[in-house]
Amino acid sequence: MSTRTPVDVAIKPWSDFEVAEQLAFFQRNREAFAPWEPTRPPEFFELRGQRLVNDYARAEWEAGRSHSFGISARGRGLVGRTSISNVVRSAFQSAHLGYLVEAALWGQGVATNAVQLTVREAFTTFGLHRIEAAIMPRNVRSIRVAEKCGLVQIGMSPQHLRINGRWEDHILYAITVDEWSARQASAG
Ligand SMILES: CC(C)(COP(=O)(O)OP(=O)(O)OC[C@H]1O[C@@H](n2cnc3c(N)ncnc32)[C@H](O)[C@@H]1OP(=O)(O)O)[C@@H](O)C(=O)NCCC(=O)NCCS
Repeated sequence: MSTRTPVDVAIKPWSDFEVAEQLAFFQRNREAFAPWEPTRPPEFFELRGQRLVNDYARAEWEAGRSHSFGISARGRGLVGRTSISNVVRSAFQSAHLGYLVEAALWGQGVATNAVQLTVREAFTTFGLHRIEAAIMPRNVRSIRVAEKCGLVQIGMSPQHLRINGRWEDHILYAITVDEWSARQASAG
């Protein structure tokens, strides 16, 4: 039985948040995120770098290529980010899923709730057929989030992403719209 207090979260487009709030979020979490992320250039942690990230997110959204969301928690403002990126249409109708949560809130269900909302967007608003997440085997928290959201392991990809300066093997997880719909139906 869990004794933690559920955190009430919502998602909205990343570019709807203030750049100063986005910058503060990445500055606060710089060390916590470093082992799990691509190496960021120094300007990523400056206002001008975050303005570029924000402009890019807006342009990608408008082009239908990527949809980045900020996670907000009641009384706390911006506490994370999710993304539906590399949207490929035609016969694939698939995209990648990403997520990051404020380190001070880890273990309180924030990522699980926000990923569930994001997967819903992927299948309803954006009409995708499938969404995929790539996770390093040692990222046990992220594996747990993917499993709780109904993603299933589909394989292993050697040297899949360059994380913190090293090409890292990743486990691939995915969920199709049919699997997601069946979960929604069984959840009532
Ligand atoms: C991965 C991440 C998004 C998880 O966020 P979160 O808000 O803590 O996730 P949740 O609280 O929804 O779920 C975490 C789960 O991991 C479990 N967990 C935490 N530490 C664990 C550990 N050492 N071993 C096993 N499980 C662990 C928690 O108990 C929880 O599962 P439960 O609900 O069954 O108890 C967050 O840790 C993060 O931002 N990490 C850095 C970026 C990252 O790795 N992103 C994902 C890249 S694929």
